[in-house]
Amino acid sequence: MTRSPSAPGAHLANRLGLADRVFAGPVSRRLQKTVEDGLAKVEAHLADELHVADALADATSRYLYEAGGKRVRPMLTVLTAQLGDGVNEQVIDAASALELTHLGSLYHDDVMDGADVRRGVPAAHSVWGNSVAILTGDLLFSRASQIMSRLGDKAMKLQADTFERLVLGQMHETVGLQAGDDPVDFYLQVLSDKTGSLIAASAQAGVLFSHAPLAYEQPLLTFGEKVGVAFQLLDDVIDLSADAAETGKVPGTDLRAGVPTMPYLLLGRLDDAASVDLLARIDAGVAQIADGADPALLDDPLTELREHAATEQTLALAHEWSDAAVAALEPLPRGAVREALTRFADAVADRSS
Ligand code: IPE
Ligand code: IPE
Ligand code: MG
Ligand code: MG
Repeated sequence: MTRSPSAPGAHLANRLGLADRVFAGPVSRRLQKTVEDGLAKVEAHLADELHVADALADATSRYLYEAGGKRVRPMLTVLTAQLGDGVNEQVIDAASALELTHLGSLYHDDVMDGADVRRGVPAAHSVWGNSVAILTGDLLFSRASQIMSRLGDKAMKLQADTFERLVLGQMHETVGLQAGDDPVDFYLQVLSDKTGSLIAASAQAGVLFSHAPLAYEQPLLTFGEKVGVAFQLLDDVIDLSADAAETGKVPGTDLRAGVPTMPYLLLGRLDDAASVDLLARIDAGVAQIADGADPALLDDPLTELREHAATEQTLALAHEWSDAAVAALEPLPRGAVREALTRFADAVADRSS
């Protein structure tokens, strides 16, 4: 089969500045080579798995894959597989299926969030319309299930359970708070479900399919879940970033669309006059945008929010979650893998794209 010449994720780690941060020191450099070799195999596999006989479906499926992405999830799978026998066909299959699940969720997410840009290119729905974007996401989920079905019942259950949590996380975010919910706790649960679940499954899959000791499974699930929350909290800070070229997204996309993020929620907890006023201006702007006003009218309030203590608190919270992720690694043997996972958690809470 023809492979994508660009296979963009092959240099995955560099997009997070991860390679140099996660793999430091001579022992880790060897591990880095092993992980990058494994990831190159995942990448080749993904390029093959993304072929669809139908020409339009083929183009739409490859579209966001070829646009880029950090390949954080397969990297975790390949890395945790080093706790067992290392990369084998099953590990590659599982890593590919989980990345395809992530990819499919991006097509859907951009429709739901009304996001115009993804991975630095126009979002799929703005090229082909909502229906084709949604169907492409569905196609990618089907492909992910097909791959997992080759690995047996346990893999299928992992895929289905993870996907259910991801979907429910997106659903809860969409429907919003119910009476009695604390906004911050509710939001953290949404982050755990929509993002932590898939990252946790990616860390777990490496153990499962490399025949590593099963005692490592739970610590890595907890690690992945907490790293996922830290990752999303940073995403909220990045959403306020001024640098669209670096993030590949339009700054403030979520907030302008009325999707609350942690800086906004923490702002809402403050009762000093300036914070109350800023919150009111953001709410008014969101309402006007919903009525068709130019989204740029929120430029100034969002710049203020970026510089507000609420955003700094979000960063601090991201660090708390990544520290908790690291603490969950305690039962793992000390060594290059645990060190790389620790550095990974640190890097996630300290990234700019
Ligand atoms: C974006 O995930 C969606 C979230 C769950 C926050 P990533 O930041 O991993 O996206 P890519 O794969 O690098 O584009
Ligand atoms: C994406 O969450 C989560 C999933 C796709 C499941 P967000 O909507 O917060 O992520 P971005 O900012 O669009 O990447
Ligand atoms: Mg989104
Ligand atoms: Mg979203």
